[in-house]
Amino acid sequence: MISSFRYPPRYQGWRELFMERVFDTFHEGASVLDVGSGRKPTVPPDKRPFRCRYVGLDLSAAELARAPDGWYDELIVWDVVKRAPELIERFDLVVSWQVLEHVKPLEAALENIRSYLRPGGRFVATLSGRFSVISLLNRLTPGTWGIEIMERLLRRNPESVFPAYYDMCWHDALKRVLEPWSRAEIVPSYIGATYFSFSRVLSRAYLEYENWVCERRLSNLATNYLIDAVR
Ligand SMILES: C[S@@+](CC[C@H](N)C(=O)[O-])C[C@H]1O[C@@H](n2cnc3c(N)ncnc32)[C@H](O)[C@@H]1O
Repeated sequence: MISSFRYPPRYQGWRELFMERVFDTFHEGASVLDVGSGRKPTVPPDKRPFRCRYVGLDLSAAELARAPDGWYDELIVWDVVKRAPELIERFDLVVSWQVLEHVKPLEAALENIRSYLRPGGRFVATLSGRFSVISLLNRLTPGTWGIEIMERLLRRNPESVFPAYYDMCWHDALKRVLEPWSRAEIVPSYIGATYFSFSRVLSRAYLEYENWVCERRLSNLATNYLIDAVR
């Protein structure tokens, strides 16, 4: 981020809000599935309650292998879009941090996640929105161009840039696909300016736009969503 650049107060606390929801349900002895956990489990081992079981599921064996030894109790190399019968009703909690925008079709993934929860089990996830400026830019600059731009402007490691589809990743679509759940809350957030941190001028211009969207609660244009749902 640009030093001394002032971001609005809404830029604080997103991760904390997610963790608050996770720890509402993550009790001693809980069984947890981390969807798309890759090299970095959403909840690190030193923050987990006693006697829990922490299972990482990811499409990529290579990503899971990059996690330090012992950070998972079990590893599952699997596509969340495909049903895994042996996971049905195994978990009290499913968590997922910034994965669902990479998943297509999202509806199938959410149905699988719901089936992996015990009755009353909870799902807490964050994802990026389809109609944010960043997502639109990401989709306009596909393949190697997109990766090169990310690498140069945002100094991101190209190996950590996964293809994003943003399938159903906007408020009204999420609301519809979460209808089968007994309770579902979708919390939008507007926190995209850090992507423009390489330019003060662009950051300011973008923030003008984002403040306008946020003030009008145009939730389909949010940059990120938190899903908090109960089976
Ligand atoms: C942006 S990374 C996020 C990783 C981790 N949650 C974190 O916060 O650092 C997205 C991860 O989702 C995984 N992924 C993408 N599509 C998937 C799918 N259909 N099923 C399971 N995992 C998937 C990728 O392999 C990658 O590890």
